[in-house]
Amino acid sequence: MDTIELLNQHRSQRTFSAKPINNELLSQLITTAQHAASSIFLQAYSFISITDPVLRQQIAAVTTMPFVQQNGHLLIVVADQHRNATLAQQQGLDPQLLSAADRFLASVEDATLATQNLVTAAESRGLGTVFLGSALNDAAKVIELLHLPKLTMPLFGLLIGYPDGENELKPRLPEAAVHFTNGYQEPTTYTAALTDYQQTLQQYYQARSHNARHADFDQVIRGALTSKHPRRELLTILHQQGFLNE
Ligand SMILES: Cc1cc2nc3c(=O)[nH]c(=O)nc-3n(C[C@H](O)[C@H](O)[C@H](O)COP(=O)(O)O)c2cc1C
Repeated sequence: MDTIELLNQHRSQRTFSAKPINNELLSQLITTAQHAASSIFLQAYSFISITDPVLRQQIAAVTTMPFVQQNGHLLIVVADQHRNATLAQQQGLDPQLLSAADRFLASVEDATLATQNLVTAAESRGLGTVFLGSALNDAAKVIELLHLPKLTMPLFGLLIGYPDGENELKPRLPEAAVHFTNGYQEPTTYTAALTDYQQTLQQYYQARSHNARHADFDQVIRGALTSKHPRRELLTILHQQGFLNE
C-alpha cells in the first residue's frame, strides 16, 4: 500500500489475536522508530517492553482498560534525559540544562515521533496498535513499578499486535479547522465546516460496530473536561523526576 494511503487508513486497534509478535519483528519496529528525527540528535526516549505477566497486570490496572490485560505486546514509552545526563556527568559536564523545559519538551517530541514511526511501520506489516495515555492515570505507580530514575518520565503505553476484528475509520476535523495561513484563525471563522463535521462524527459514532453511541465533537470535548482521571498531579511528578526545576 502507498504510504499516504496507509497513513490515511490509520485506526487504533484494541483487540488482538493471541499470535505473539516475534522478537525479530519487534527489533525491526524499534529500529524504524529510532530513525525518526530527534532534537539535537539527543534521542531522548526509551521503550520498555513489559513481558512479566504480573507487571503487565499492574500496569493494566493503572490504565483501568480491560483490553490491556488481554493480548498484544505492551511497550511503555519514556521521555528520557537520564541517559544523556549520565553520559554528560561521565565526561565531567553539568547536565542541568537537560532538565529544563526546552529539553523536556524535546524529549516528549522525540519519543512521540519515534513512536509514531513505530506505529506506521507496524501498520505496514499488518499489525495494529493503540496508544495508552491512561498509563498516566497513576504515573507515580508506573515510575515505581518500572524503577524510572530522575530525568525520565513515562508518557504513554503502546499495545501492538495482530488485529482481531477491524474498527471503522474515525473522521477527522475539516482542514479549515487545523490548517491556517499566515496566522491563527478562531473557530468562529469556520463555523459551517465545523457544523458539517459534527454531523459526520455523529453518524460515525451512531453507526460504528463497537461502542455505538450518540456523540459529536462537543461531546468529545465535554468528555475530556469531565474525565474521571484529570491527572492533575503530573506537574508535581515532573518536578519530582527532576524536570522543569529551572
Ligand atoms: C497520546 C494518546 C493517548 C491515548 N490514550 C488512549 C487510551 O488510554 N486508551 C484508548 O483506548 N485509546 C487511547 N488513545 C487512542 C485515541 O483514542 C485514538 O487515537 C483517537 O480516538 C482516534 O482514533 P483512531 O486512532 O482510531 O483514528 C490515545 C491516543 C493518543 C495519541
